[in-house]
Amino acid sequence: MKFPETLSVCVANIEEVTPLVKRFTLVPAEGGSLPGFSAGSHIMVHMPGEERTYRNAYSLMSAPNDRSCYQIGVRRQEESRGGSVYMHEKVKTGDLLRINPPANLFAIDRLSAKQILIAGGIGITPFMSYLKELPDLGVPFELHYAYRAQSHAAFRELIAAQLGGQLHTYDASRDEFIQPRVLLAAQPLGTHVYVCGPEGLIDAVVETARELGWPESHIHYEQFAAPQPGAPFKVSCAKQACEIDVPGDMSLLDALEAAGVDVPNMCRGGVCGQCETGLLEGEAEHRDNYLPDEARDRKIMPCVSRARSARLVLDL
Ligand code: FES
Repeated sequence: MKFPETLSVCVANIEEVTPLVKRFTLVPAEGGSLPGFSAGSHIMVHMPGEERTYRNAYSLMSAPNDRSCYQIGVRRQEESRGGSVYMHEKVKTGDLLRINPPANLFAIDRLSAKQILIAGGIGITPFMSYLKELPDLGVPFELHYAYRAQSHAAFRELIAAQLGGQLHTYDASRDEFIQPRVLLAAQPLGTHVYVCGPEGLIDAVVETARELGWPESHIHYEQFAAPQPGAPFKVSCAKQACEIDVPGDMSLLDALEAAGVDVPNMCRGGVCGQCETGLLEGEAEHRDNYLPDEARDRKIMPCVSRARSARLVLDL
């Protein structure tokens, strides 16, 4: 079955989960059912702001086999470039939104001997759908959840009620922190680790697992790098013979789309590789987690990366 490129959904419910996190329940705008998905999937939400359309990726928290609705958890980012503030301030119950169908860059490996899930803050959201699937896999798993204080521990009670002793919490306000080396060194052979949350936590877990000799295939992380602002620059599209101004507070991908230049994309966070674009002239400021070093002088990921030079020429 072929699904449309975007889907229309209606905001059926909005709950304030913590002072910074809201949970949105989205249902099909015209009835019927939504596409199914696998645990760890995300959707892209299109938010029509006054000056531009924001597009942010959010992990699906609802049960993968429930096609009546999708649920996402949105943390209001203090340094937001618009998307999370839009979701928190503008979106109301009954509103219609467009979304891209689910895509999965953080899937469960079903052949592992044991699963260790590590979440920091809002990084808990992809694991909410994991918890709907993992119990049926029949392999041991545990969730390690770190947060800044109990008042910011989104969904903690819900998870505790389901997991009991399989949930380990770390409250930074009580000087409790995950110690990746202690945690990972104690795991049996064949364990897979999954980490989602702040960059520092992901780096610490991934580096520790590598130092301990874990195979790369056993280390899973989801790290959407939200596009950060930078200096304005110009971009020329060689095939389309156009030149576009990229403002300091707009991503290169957003600027291309606003000018009518389509670029494939999936995560808009520098991890999926979909937006890889040839760089013909100029120097890029790479901010992605995808391109290998040897490709960085001739490729760019426009969803997050910008320019060091005043002008880039792209193979578009
Ligand atoms: S859209 Fe995924 S890396 Fe750019």
